[in-house]
Amino acid sequence: MEPPKSLRPKNIMVATELLSDPFLQLPTPNSVRVVWFTEFPGRENCVVYGDNLEEEVRAVTSKLTRVREDQNSKITPSYAETAYREVWRHEAEITGLKRDRRLPYRVISTRETGEEISSQIFSLAPTPSGGKPLKILLTSDHQLMPMTAANLQKVEEAIGKVDAVFMAGDLINIADRASEWFDSDGGNAFFPVLQGRGSYTLKKKGIETVYKGGELIQHAPLFTAIGNHEVMGRFSLQTGLNEQFGDAYPQIKAEEIYQKSSAEINPRNDPQLKAAWIKANSFNTDTYEEIFTLPQSDSGGEKYYAVTFGDIRLVVLYITNIWRSPSIKDEQISRYRERSPDLDTPEKWGYGQHIFEPITPDSKQYKWLVQELQTPEFQAAKYKIVMFHHPPHTLGDNIVPAYTNPRQTIIATLEGEVKSVRYEYPLNDDYIIRYLEPLFNEVGVQLVYYGHSHLWNRFQNKQGVNFLESSNVGNSYGAFLGSKKRPIPKGYQETYIADGDPNGLEPIMPTISPLKDENNNDLPYVSSNDISIFSILDTGRGKVSSYRFDTTQSNSDVIKFDEFSLLP
Ligand SMILES: [Fe+2]
Repeated sequence: MEPPKSLRPKNIMVATELLSDPFLQLPTPNSVRVVWFTEFPGRENCVVYGDNLEEEVRAVTSKLTRVREDQNSKITPSYAETAYREVWRHEAEITGLKRDRRLPYRVISTRETGEEISSQIFSLAPTPSGGKPLKILLTSDHQLMPMTAANLQKVEEAIGKVDAVFMAGDLINIADRASEWFDSDGGNAFFPVLQGRGSYTLKKKGIETVYKGGELIQHAPLFTAIGNHEVMGRFSLQTGLNEQFGDAYPQIKAEEIYQKSSAEINPRNDPQLKAAWIKANSFNTDTYEEIFTLPQSDSGGEKYYAVTFGDIRLVVLYITNIWRSPSIKDEQISRYRERSPDLDTPEKWGYGQHIFEPITPDSKQYKWLVQELQTPEFQAAKYKIVMFHHPPHTLGDNIVPAYTNPRQTIIATLEGEVKSVRYEYPLNDDYIIRYLEPLFNEVGVQLVYYGHSHLWNRFQNKQGVNFLESSNVGNSYGAFLGSKKRPIPKGYQETYIADGDPNGLEPIMPTISPLKDENNNDLPYVSSNDISIFSILDTGRGKVSSYRFDTTQSNSDVIKFDEFSLLP
């Protein structure tokens, strides 16, 4: 019998054949999970930890069920067609931990041949106690964008190790493409840049700089929200993954198709088969849910949840819809109308920017939220923070049209021939503004944190709730203020706001060092493909600070440009 790993020699070769470094998940007051990935199942997978790495816990191993590659994957060797990729996930629960005590750990996967592959030594800790000052990275919208690796590298250089990462969605571009999570050829996949193992060449003004990202989540738990990019549409092994990502179909419409053919699809009326069929023919977040182990809610599982972390009560919601083009030409599926070649085939319709998970007062998510906001954990928390993907207040583009179910108008002849299908989005029925913001006001939420438009701006409403979008991480999609206008459809009846915050708040000027426009006026936002932003919540000081880094000057300093307080 082999001796336990803790008694074997410590000079294990550090190999790089783990598909990811380990990262921390689901801390509790006395435990934390360690998760990592390999391209082999492993004869044994374990975590060794303790002051002398003397303890050992075996991992539970599972295989990801949906990850694939296709012709658009940036991976060597390349794929000629869409095919499954074999990825195994290992998770070990480390229990019996003491509050505020950090311990070293490493993970070891043993191949079938007996070869042991180990990570380097990192550190783990359970949920910190209340009162302990923490530094939390607020980030989102990484999506393998050009500046993401530089951004995370600067976080580590300027701040050091953070205590947690809160990420408001859009982690990758295509959730079922394995290489976007693990090993894209660009060196900027999701895990490598959050683990300081990336290798992304950023070219600015003719100078190339290679960024590796920051070694962050090996030591700190990651709490994420679902963005539109975590959602995959109708499943196929024939079509490409980009196409499937854009092909999310409303569940209610998939159900209608199912009902018409249920005798053929499901002759025995098996409820599991029905659920699987609806999922395969609408949309899913399976890969996201398989990769992460997050806190859970009874009604939403990992999709929406609340967690206490030190002095923070963090409420994470599933607020995102499918993104569709504002163009009303026929070349692509639009948010405002169906393409004319598709009018007689509703299976090809996009159904506008439909919402993935309801948030209206009759929904499970809303009812759960109301209950959560009444819990002692929420009410007693020093910091009450809500995080989700879609912006309630922003100068960015993705706030138009309003976050509401698309209102469909079908014009057809008396014979039933469809002539046009249009969608409108009433501004005064934006569900976040109409149903959620009043709740946040009432219970004293201090910060609503979100992403999606890839810029930095912040707001405060009359009741004192702070709104922050800090998503100018890897690139920007623009800020629309003054002369710069969002694309607004012509000939539509509802109001679509071309500039400013459609929901009526004024952006707050950065308090320390705003950027300037070409006329040397201070700018109340950062929207840049050269300057990358990150924000840090410091619970000891009760402040959120935002930092900028100019990637055109790779040796320049990180500049703190804004700071605001979450405390009265
Ligand atoms: Fe997004």
